[in-house]
Amino acid sequence: EQAERAKLLEGYEMAAKLYQYILHNTEQGKAAKAYLRDRGMNDKLIETFGLGYAPARWDTLTNLLDKKQYFLPLMEQGGLLSAKHDGNGYVDKFRDRIMFPIYDWKGQVIAFGGRAMGNVQPKYLNSPESMLFHKSRTLYNLHLARPQIRKTQEIVLFEGYMDVIRAWEAGIKNGVATMGTALTSEQAESIRRLAERVTVVYDGDQAGQTAAYKSIPLLENAGCQVRIAMLPDALDPDEYIAKYGSERFVREVIETAVPSIKYKLLYFRNNYRLQEDGEKLRYIKQALKLIAGLSSPIEREHYLRELSSEFRYSLEALQQNLNEIRLQTE
Ligand code: UTP
Ligand code: MN
Ligand code: MN
Ligand code: MN
Ligand code: MN
Repeated sequence: EQAERAKLLEGYEMAAKLYQYILHNTEQGKAAKAYLRDRGMNDKLIETFGLGYAPARWDTLTNLLDKKQYFLPLMEQGGLLSAKHDGNGYVDKFRDRIMFPIYDWKGQVIAFGGRAMGNVQPKYLNSPESMLFHKSRTLYNLHLARPQIRKTQEIVLFEGYMDVIRAWEAGIKNGVATMGTALTSEQAESIRRLAERVTVVYDGDQAGQTAAYKSIPLLENAGCQVRIAMLPDALDPDEYIAKYGSERFVREVIETAVPSIKYKLLYFRNNYRLQEDGEKLRYIKQALKLIAGLSSPIEREHYLRELSSEFRYSLEALQQNLNEIRLQTE
């Protein structure tokens, strides 16, 4: 209901301000600040993304909301507070966590991701689904990235909060994140409404690469042109930038992203031992299937030529095989 929504929005806004205040101005915030510094974040960046700190206490936010006579059951329902087990009042939901506000496209806080500083599970505690927050429809950082997305007609898609923020500092101002979960068709549709082209820059580990592979049909069905970036040594974008710097990230990861077909060809390659003839032939067959799926004849020819020169089969033979595959799938 409209009035409840507005109240919850105010609650989230107040919480964000409180966490920011605590991070910047209190003794309790010092370790959190040091943690963020350690992860390469300066004050300006922390401010741009509205980061804060929820202290290791049970009552910090609860007291503030209580004092302002905020409707506590609503705040509990909205994921800011937890009901005590004995049913007697409320406690803070987020404790001893770095707070990443999640904004809607208008720039209103609708949820939080809270990162533990130590080895606590879960690593990120996120706000639950609520009347404000629908994770499957939300893209992290859309409110800040929108102008640049419109201007360039391009979106850069990351997995995580830190990746977006580090990339922003590296000059990528059109980056958003799916926040770890698999890309949904709703997110793909909203990406397409904003931009024609997407560069997917998921983590270099197996999970990230599988997720990148799965994002391709969703994005293409929505009508996007898709490129995929690859990261070495299972690094994620944040780790890559920490290790090699911003310039190299832009030059060697973002700018060398490959079209989705190329990515699929590379992705499947790892499954075959190409020194063996039988395996090589099986790979060629799989590659031809992928190439057969391309709608543009020029693109088909381009990748056929690549296959031909790499594996030393005649273009004619490959073309003939391709035609057979295309006939079978018609
Ligand atoms: P990752 O596990 O790759 O974390 O999950 P990360 O972004 O690299 O985080 P850092 O660098 O260790 O701080 C990617 C994203 O998945 C969501 C978060 O949005 C995270 O940024 N996630 C991950 C959760 O929501 N909960 C978790 O416990 C872990
Ligand atoms: Mn929902
Ligand atoms: Mn990951
Ligand atoms: Mn990661
Ligand atoms: Mn990371």
